Amino acid sequence: MSAPRWGVTGWGAALPTRVVTNADLAEKLDTSDEWVRTRTGIRERRVGGLVSELAAEAGRHALARAGCDGSDVELLILATTTPDQAVPATSSKVHHALGIAGGAYDLNAACAGFVYGLVAAAGAIATGTSSVLLVGADCLSRITDPLDRSTAVLFADGAGAILLQSSTGSREAAELDAPPGMPAGALLGTDLGVDGTAYELLGCEHGGYMTMEGSEVFRRAVRITVSSATAALARSGLKPDDVALFVPHQANLRIIEAACDRLGIGSERTAVILDRTGNTSAASIPLALAEAADAGRLSAGDYVLLSGFGAGMTWASAVLRWGSPL
Ligand code: COA
Repeated sequence: MSAPRWGVTGWGAALPTRVVTNADLAEKLDTSDEWVRTRTGIRERRVGGLVSELAAEAGRHALARAGCDGSDVELLILATTTPDQAVPATSSKVHHALGIAGGAYDLNAACAGFVYGLVAAAGAIATGTSSVLLVGADCLSRITDPLDRSTAVLFADGAGAILLQSSTGSREAAELDAPPGMPAGALLGTDLGVDGTAYELLGCEHGGYMTMEGSEVFRRAVRITVSSATAALARSGLKPDDVALFVPHQANLRIIEAACDRLGIGSERTAVILDRTGNTSAASIPLALAEAADAGRLSAGDYVLLSGFGAGMTWASAVLRWGSPL
């Protein structure tokens, strides 16, 4: 079976309406707007709701943009670390809310979850699935101690989604030019990994709050982002200069800037949203991607480099050729 041509045909975002500024946090915590801005780049974040609600809203926007509804979707993948409840998977609720026709499952790879999901979605399409709704959604505020200044200023809530469709779907197929030697699908090189020896650096017991060794996570995050993004680019046969847009995990602006510096990708080619969202885990990459797409920063054929890292410690990078095959 030859690989089907596919692309991203829709995208969407959802954020809770409640805005929490650094000044709001400084009223209850021993912190300041200045400290949070200069150490993290975060100015405000959105807090509230459930993963199922935010995921359904982001998914609905992605479907609407593609002119589809749930009956067109053969598979829903929900990347999340904060499911509404332990059982059943939150994707079941989202499946119901959107009237999705096919299968659904949750995927937990922490903040790297969306890119892990992208690789899984591309695999499903390669084996005959014609459309996959991929959502990254998290409500980290539910597992963050509001009185712990070392984590409360960082983590927040949100969801982002993309719809992947293959040209073997119901619409009339049209060719998206692929450079010679490139695979027909839109995902070029990828790099997935986990370092289980770092398991205890960032975590949360059932019913508890997140704990984190912030400075060690910071050091590893820069190294991992650079090595993983470099590996994905090399497997794509591309160089940093070929990247039209870099969409890194949105954890800390200093991590992003250090990684961009080492990769040789300037801020004009980097998507940053964390100043307004904080760290939304699996939602951070699709939120930044959706904002860039809405702003017209992406054109068909552009190479988009996505790179995430998170608890585990997991990492995942992928090069996506932007554009619709339909
Ligand atoms: N406000 C004011 N001071 C704070 C603070 C806050 N919100 N949080 C921590 N501090 C203090 C610390 O207590 C420490 O004080 P001390 O020197 O008296 O002990 C001081 O600031 C410096 O702490 P440090 O941890 O060295 O700061 P940092 O520059 O490393 O920044 C993080 C802290 C958490 C912002 C940073 O380490 C980070 O972003 N790490 C990665 C976190 C991450 O990405 N996690 C998610 C992974 S998906």
